[in-house]
Amino acid sequence: MKKVYMDYGATTPVDPEVITAMNPYFFEIYGNPSSTHSYGVDAADDIEQSRLKVASLINAKPEEIIFTSGGTEADNLAIKGVAALHENKKNTKGPHIITTEIEHAAVLETCKYLEKTGFDVAYLPVDKYGLIKTEDLKNTISKNTFLLSIIYANNEIGTIQEIEEIGKITESNGILFHTDAVQAVGKIPVDVNRSRIDLLSLSSHKIYGPKGVGGLFVKKGIKIKPLFHGGGHEQGKRSSTLNTPGIIGLGKACELGKKRLVTDSKKMIKQRDTLIKNILGIEESYLNGHPNKRLPNNAHFRFSAVEGESLHMMLDNKQIAVATGSACSSKKLKPSHVLLALGLTPEESHGSLRFTLGRQTEDTEISYVSKELPKIVEHLRKMSPLWKK
Ligand SMILES: Cc1ncc(COP(=O)(O)O)c(C=O)c1O
Repeated sequence: MKKVYMDYGATTPVDPEVITAMNPYFFEIYGNPSSTHSYGVDAADDIEQSRLKVASLINAKPEEIIFTSGGTEADNLAIKGVAALHENKKNTKGPHIITTEIEHAAVLETCKYLEKTGFDVAYLPVDKYGLIKTEDLKNTISKNTFLLSIIYANNEIGTIQEIEEIGKITESNGILFHTDAVQAVGKIPVDVNRSRIDLLSLSSHKIYGPKGVGGLFVKKGIKIKPLFHGGGHEQGKRSSTLNTPGIIGLGKACELGKKRLVTDSKKMIKQRDTLIKNILGIEESYLNGHPNKRLPNNAHFRFSAVEGESLHMMLDNKQIAVATGSACSSKKLKPSHVLLALGLTPEESHGSLRFTLGRQTEDTEISYVSKELPKIVEHLRKMSPLWKK
C-alpha cells in the first residue's frame, strides 16, 4: 500500500491546475501590482480577477475581499481591527467580545491578548457535540457587546454551527458577526449574505491552494483598523506588496472549489460514513463531534484505554498520516481544549484521533485504514493497564 494521507484538515496538496495558474506570475507577470506601468497593471488586473473568484465562492462582492497571509492573519485583522475602534469601551463591565471555547488558536489567543489589554471576553460553552446554544448567546450579549467571533466548522471535530440562526441574532442585536470559516469554505456552501456575516476568514492551503495566503471578507461599510501600517494597500486595511502568485493560486483554488463542491462533498461523505461505520465496529470506540452536522471530510474518534499518540505513531509506521489534536496543537501534550469543552476527560481526549479526507482519498485507502486500525487498537490495548478485558 502506498502512503495514505488523511490529514487534509491540516493542509492540502496544491491542485495541479492551481500550480499551472500560478506559474506565469513568478517570471513573466512579475510586476508589482501597485506599479502604474504595464507590468504592474497586468498583475493588478489578474489580482482583481482572483478577488472576483474568491468573492464568488462565498457570495460576496469583490471589493469586500482583503487578501492576507492566511487564516491566522485574517482572524487577527478581523478581531483586533474591530476592537481597536472600541478602545473607549475598555474596562467597562459586560462582555465586549463573545467567542466560544472551541475556537482555533488564531481566535482564542487573539481574544486572550485583548482581554489582557482591558477588553472583556465571554467564552460560550458547547454541548457534547460541539454546538453552542443560541439561548446562551442571546443571554450573554450585553449593551457593551460589539463583536461575536465563532468558528463556522470546527477544525478538530468538524462540527458545523447553526450559522444562519446565529447571524439573525447578531443582526437583531446590532453586533458584528465574524466567523472563522477556514475549514468550511470550499467544503460546504457558505453564503455571507444569507447568513448575515460581517467578517469571514478563509485560508488558501486548506482548499488545494498554496500556503501563506488567505483572505478576510469585510462587508461593505464595515470599518476595521489595520494591523500593518505602510503603503495603504487593500483599501488601507492591509499594507504590503500583494503576493501575486499566491493570490492567483487562491483565486484558482476558489474557482475549482466552487465547481467541485457538490461532487467532492458527495464523494467524501460516502467515504467518511464508510470509515465511521467501520471504525465504530471496534469495541469501545466513539465518534467525537456531531453525527451529521459535521464537515463532509471529517471523522474524529476516541478509543478507550489507548493513547492517541501511540495510535498516531503506529499508523504512521503503516504509512497512514492522521492527526491527534489539531495540527497546530498536536506538538503539545496538553489535552485538546476542544475535546475538553465537549465534556471529555483528559484521558478520553488523549485517546482521540482525527481523520480528514480530501480530493485524492481513494476507497482502497478507506478499506486499508479500516483493516489496519482495529489491529493496532487491539495490540495497544493488550499492553494497556487500563484495558480490563
Ligand atoms: C479553523 C482554522 N482557523 C485558522 C487557521 C489558521 O490558518 P492559516 O494556517 O492559514 O494561518 C486554521 C489552520 O489550521 C484553522 O483550521
